[in-house]
Amino acid sequence: MSANAAPIPMTSAPCGPLTGVAEVPGDKSISHRALILGALALGETRITGLLEGEDVIDTARAMRAFGAEVTDHGGGEWTVRGVGVGGFAEPDQVIDCGNSGTGVRLIMGAMATSPIVATFTGDASLNSRPMARVTDPLALFGCQAVGRSGGRLPMTLIGAADPLPVRYVLPVPSAQVKSAVLLAGLNAPGKTVVIEGEATRDHTERMLTAFGAEIIVEDGAEGRTITLTGQPELRPQSIAVPRDPSSAAFPVCAALIVPGSDVLVPGIGLNPTRAGLFETLREMGADLTYENLREEGGEPVADLRARFSPDMRGIEVPADRAASMIDEYPILSVVAANALGRTVMTGVGELRVKESDRIDAMATGLRACGVTVDEGEDWFAVDGAGPGSVTGAGVCASHLDHRIAMSFLVLGMAARQAVSVDDGGPIATSFPVFESLMADLGATIRREPC
Ligand code: S3P
Repeated sequence: MSANAAPIPMTSAPCGPLTGVAEVPGDKSISHRALILGALALGETRITGLLEGEDVIDTARAMRAFGAEVTDHGGGEWTVRGVGVGGFAEPDQVIDCGNSGTGVRLIMGAMATSPIVATFTGDASLNSRPMARVTDPLALFGCQAVGRSGGRLPMTLIGAADPLPVRYVLPVPSAQVKSAVLLAGLNAPGKTVVIEGEATRDHTERMLTAFGAEIIVEDGAEGRTITLTGQPELRPQSIAVPRDPSSAAFPVCAALIVPGSDVLVPGIGLNPTRAGLFETLREMGADLTYENLREEGGEPVADLRARFSPDMRGIEVPADRAASMIDEYPILSVVAANALGRTVMTGVGELRVKESDRIDAMATGLRACGVTVDEGEDWFAVDGAGPGSVTGAGVCASHLDHRIAMSFLVLGMAARQAVSVDDGGPIATSFPVFESLMADLGATIRREPC
């Protein structure tokens, strides 16, 4: 998001059945990584299906600033001519990562072990998010960081001239932190080791292996240990980005709660470290099937078919599933409001430091639409009264958070009265075609005058 973008209020009205095929864009996590690893390889990486959302475009621009040649060939096809591990040039401008925590944290890691200086900033949401979780482990490599109070952006990093390899136990379950440490470890001699208590998304490990890095992943009593041998020569790759399960979640969940719906969402990445929502929905009684299961580009992929599911029930979502569906709790809470009974979501403290405080944002907006929600520091619970029970008529704040905006617009599709969001602009960070895609299925979302 541009720091000064004017808000785009949107309203979603109750609609008839959602039907058809929803071709959601490429995976955001994989798109960031494809650009960054492409920039760190020597030679030309080809990427198809890249997500052309604002977050990823900001990362593409940043890779150019560090010296890579990044070219948009149209239709999601991009090439990156990389500079090699340790080859990053010093940018001559501030790196603006917009709304993207993934972008800034991974890029910080990628530059932290090169003898260059870079300054990072973002929009109001990103500049309020904690960065010490990344700069603390990067300091172990010898990288210095100076930012605002509370470890917030804008922030300048002075990369380590003589980096040391690092052994780091993740204090929070975060793929962004894990990836920042691994990317920094690329230009440190010897073995960098990251240990995570809970398995978080593993796209960085998979992609590093594909690019030719030596990386060993072992599951043990401590959790998952990832060992990377530093200073590899990364070989350029052809990467086909699968469609994003976190974006698929919106048409899938909308179909489950709007009477009469039947929607096919093809080609969705079902990496087990990402697919927790779909497992949860099935446990709730969703009519959600995987068709044509296959493997594409090293990731499991399937076509998802979601049909209106009038008999969904509230459940307790296991806390140890949180990492595999961390971005999906906002839309799950919308489904929970339309299921029968209480859905309890625990172990989700990380939601408080996403693009917004997602527990607070969802609880406040759901209450404004007549739904009962209880919350604590790292949990929340939604009391659902079944299909058609949500009053709606709320005006919900999106807090510069794409997933909050989309969740409330989906709520409006199944509520008795329309639901509004104060700003749908952030949707363009991850799902630029959300409005037209949902309209093609039968939703009624309109932009309101400011
Ligand atoms: C991401 C990791 C998650 C997720 C984010 C994307 C990634 O953040 O919320 O949207 O691509 O690594 P954390 O790793 O901080 O939980």
